[in-house]
Amino acid sequence: MSQSAPYKVLFVCLGNICRSPSAEIIFNAVAARAGLAGRVKADSCGTASYHIGSRPDHRMLAALERAGYSYGGHRARAFRRSDFTEFDLIIPQDEYNEQDILALARNESDRAKVKGMWTWFAAEETEHSVPDPYYGGPAGFDAVVALLTRSMERLVNDMKSTMDNLPSAM
Ligand code: 4NP
Repeated sequence: MSQSAPYKVLFVCLGNICRSPSAEIIFNAVAARAGLAGRVKADSCGTASYHIGSRPDHRMLAALERAGYSYGGHRARAFRRSDFTEFDLIIPQDEYNEQDILALARNESDRAKVKGMWTWFAAEETEHSVPDPYYGGPAGFDAVVALLTRSMERLVNDMKSTMDNLPSAM
């Protein structure tokens, strides 16, 4: 009997210094609470290359800390076509990220892996994507953390059902 490979999820935003590293951090916390540690693996990246190698924005880290999350050491990287092969699920934070990723898709199987973060927003959310907080004040960063926190349990539950329904590795 062999252990099946972890289910791999990639969060994507523009710069990989605000929204997608937050989504990765929040996902890891929610997945661990759901007992999925070791069965899932998360990463994040950006569609732009301006911030490659940078730590998350200090305003984003401050908002995460205010909400009780801790930073695990991520450095920004850019989305690459091989991410379509490496990951099971690719989650853009807004429609621009989604368009940029889909423009690199090689086939229908690549496209089918791309699902916007808004897929897991509650019906009562007024946002239709995760708003870019970069040019605003601290409230925008807190709003990103709150929106991702409200949505992440739904994503993790969905992922858990998908994994439970996968044929197990022999
Ligand atoms: P992110 O936010 O896509 O959530 O990481 C941004 C980071 C940097 C820039 C814009 C948005 N920028 O223009 O440098």
